Amino acid sequence: EGDRLPIDALLEWYDTNARDLPWRAPDASPWAVLVSEFMLQQTPVNRVLPVYESWLRRWPAPAALAAEPAGEAIREWGRLGYPRRALRLHACAGTLVELHGGEVPDDVDALLALPGVGTYTARAIAAFAYRQRVPVIDTNVRRVLTRVFDGVADSSANVTNLDLDRAKSLLPLQPERAARTSISLMELGALNCVARTPRCSDCPLATQCRWLLAGFPDNAGPVRRP
Ligand code: ADE
Repeated sequence: EGDRLPIDALLEWYDTNARDLPWRAPDASPWAVLVSEFMLQQTPVNRVLPVYESWLRRWPAPAALAAEPAGEAIREWGRLGYPRRALRLHACAGTLVELHGGEVPDDVDALLALPGVGTYTARAIAAFAYRQRVPVIDTNVRRVLTRVFDGVADSSANVTNLDLDRAKSLLPLQPERAARTSISLMELGALNCVARTPRCSDCPLATQCRWLLAGFPDNAGPVRRP
């Protein structure tokens, strides 16, 4: 309570600065969003992109993947690393077919029950695929919120229910606007509010950032250009 974000400025920042990523396209299916989140769990965006495209071309829906042996999923996973994720995604497709009519469910608890889907992934799918007012906290969002509201460079602590409640209270009430806010916080953390060299000069949250106002404790702060 009392925490407020300049949402309009944040959404404007997103509109002009965000990367144009295929899983954020308006026509990306919930399955496509789920596949992207599995791949992005431990692999950078640029390495995910080609595998994401070929995966969805081959398996545009859960039933297509579930119909093939797990070994095909491992093979298509290629060099993304941590190939157990491919097996979990294959198992997830099987569960979607068996329990959800081949569709990706839209509620966080049903999503959490799927193989390979944890708290972050369940919330990311609800927010990004189904445009729900659900807080999403990955390491990037966590860093942004820790800096803005706690005035601290970073947090190593696990995400708690209190963190999720607080993050939810920041979100606009209108669901689509809330979903856009969530992806904007994530992108701001990925592109600007980065760990070592934040770019505060074009940050839409700079006016309220306790960490900036405190003089960047425990970090060199923004890169200074001559
Ligand atoms: N967009 C949605 N989820 C993402 C993620 N985990 N990494 C990068 N971009 C994303």
